Amino acid sequence: MDGNGRWARQQGEQRVFGHHHGVRAVRETTEGCAELGVGYLTLYAFSTENWNRPKEEVDALMELLVQTISKEIKTLMDNNISLKAIGDLESLPRKCHDELNQAITTTSSNTGMELILALSYSSRWEITKAVKEIAQSVKEGKISPDEINEQVISNHLCTKDFPDPELMIRTSGEMRISNFLLWQLAYTELYITPVLWPDFGREELYKAILDFQKRERRFGMTSEQVTLK
Ligand code: FPP
Repeated sequence: MDGNGRWARQQGEQRVFGHHHGVRAVRETTEGCAELGVGYLTLYAFSTENWNRPKEEVDALMELLVQTISKEIKTLMDNNISLKAIGDLESLPRKCHDELNQAITTTSSNTGMELILALSYSSRWEITKAVKEIAQSVKEGKISPDEINEQVISNHLCTKDFPDPELMIRTSGEMRISNFLLWQLAYTELYITPVLWPDFGREELYKAILDFQKRERRFGMTSEQVTLK
């Protein structure tokens, strides 16, 4: 969800103004995905590196997260969405952590789309944690190095309960992955739009999905092989 700061500057406002307007885009995109029958939507809301932003911006973002999570529980319930979170959740301020846990519990029996918030998340942090856990299991004799395969690694990532994403949308035109789901995005289709996050909504979502539907996903095979499958 990139471009909030630039959007605010374009309006002659402070960066935080852009984050506040980003919430409308979060709601519209979430509802739009749920209506279309998307199974999983992951929103990269706050990266490990975002802690290095000015304190006022970090504080404002954490406050916005708390407010949005509590205000939007009704939207989640109305749309049968269950909330999940990935990242170093222990590093979040107590209030944010508690609000998040409460929303996760309240929405846990919803059976529709799973909305996954990536908070204090970075892929290198996640992979490092997984490597440490696997090394510990080897040390304790629970697994031998020969038994470590892709599945074992996937099972130690925060995303172990979710399938790999089919489509990644990045707003604001930056041609980067920015430490997001590096392992999981191996065969994900990338869609990068110049639209800034606060201007993103149903129409932009539909454009991205229509573009995705034209792609041929070969997973390393030939075009003939995937057509015959
Ligand atoms: C990136 O834009 C955006 C963020 C770091 C924050 C995203 C957060 C929200 C939209 C708030 C609410 C979210 C949820 C899920 C409740 P940027 O600040 O890097 O923009 P810039 O690149 O133009 O400076």
